[in-house]
Amino acid sequence: MSANDAAIGLPLAELETPALCLDLDAYRRNVARMVRYIVTDHHLNWRPHMKGQKAVELAREAIAAGAIGVTCATLYEAEAMVSGGIGGVLIANQIAGARKLARLARLQRTSAVMAATDSLEHAQALNEAALAEGTAVPVLIELNVGMHRSGIAPGEPTVALAKAIVAMKGLRLAGLMGWEGHVLAFEDEAKREKITTAMQALTASAAQCRAAGIVIEIVSASGSGTFRMSAPLEGITEVQAGGGVFSDLSYRKWGLDHEFALTILTRVVSRPSATRVIVDGGFKTMSVQHGLPQPLGIPPVRNLALSAEHGNIELELPDDSLQVGDPVSFVPGYTDSTLCLHDEMCVLREGKLEAVWTIPGRTGRR
Ligand SMILES: Cc1ncc(COP(=O)(O)O)c(C=O)c1O
Repeated sequence: MSANDAAIGLPLAELETPALCLDLDAYRRNVARMVRYIVTDHHLNWRPHMKGQKAVELAREAIAAGAIGVTCATLYEAEAMVSGGIGGVLIANQIAGARKLARLARLQRTSAVMAATDSLEHAQALNEAALAEGTAVPVLIELNVGMHRSGIAPGEPTVALAKAIVAMKGLRLAGLMGWEGHVLAFEDEAKREKITTAMQALTASAAQCRAAGIVIEIVSASGSGTFRMSAPLEGITEVQAGGGVFSDLSYRKWGLDHEFALTILTRVVSRPSATRVIVDGGFKTMSVQHGLPQPLGIPPVRNLALSAEHGNIELELPDDSLQVGDPVSFVPGYTDSTLCLHDEMCVLREGKLEAVWTIPGRTGRR
């Protein structure tokens, strides 16, 4: 049982801290905006990335609002989704190693979970695992559209891999994917140009495969910091944007104006001086990846430093309005790397705790 189960029905300020808090109404408004833009306005499928959301309840919410399924980063996340009854799962990464390939092949008996592949060697290993299990794994070929992470080169190398996969009995080629994550830090026209180049590499490769007689159903791409520019481009069939359902300081920086739906509640534990406020949340509670979190609704802050269990806030001016025991909420610098520090999420509506959801698959275990 979670510490905050006993706080159901109580106002935010009474939760045990530190606590990861979801404003369910703000989250739902963000989801509705994504559905409107992606599904209603641009007639694309939405398969939101759950790497930074994890909770099965959030997958159910997104699907009820119009998502076609969910995108996952790890096999472990995908298994958690499947055991929670979620269909339409895509693992947008390569799974490697004989035991895990066997797990992925076995998972197909419960639900058709798609996975990414980007080389002949990898596709052959997955094919063998599927044949050994007597299943077939639907795959998307991942292309390197400029991010230089995983992904095969667009064009001929993609077509050659697609042809090889079509001939494998243990795989079913479902389509192509590419993630234009390298453009996040760009703005306006420079960003639009880079997104267009990246998406053209993907959609032109899909056209080349089709010209070679290969069926490409799915062309999947895009994230929360790019989908507003990617979705209108011709040839993409679905969008993977996920973290925009919460938003945070990084997504703001990357051009998304969604509401902050996920916050961290901490509590003042010490006031060593009139300009220093110490709260019970440090870097084990709030990630510093992509930037520091920001306290909300307190006097102007000169500096914030996080040690393991302490947030050390230095105020611009002396102020005694914050007392030991007072709550202080923070908006995360990056929700993805913050949520995975927590075992559970406190779900609030109209300022009161409505539910506590567990966060499965939250570690680096893949
Ligand atoms: C494969 C893939 N697709 C999409 C995204 C975008 O995810 P989000 O919208 O949660 O930022 C990412 C982010 O890392 C990713 O790795």
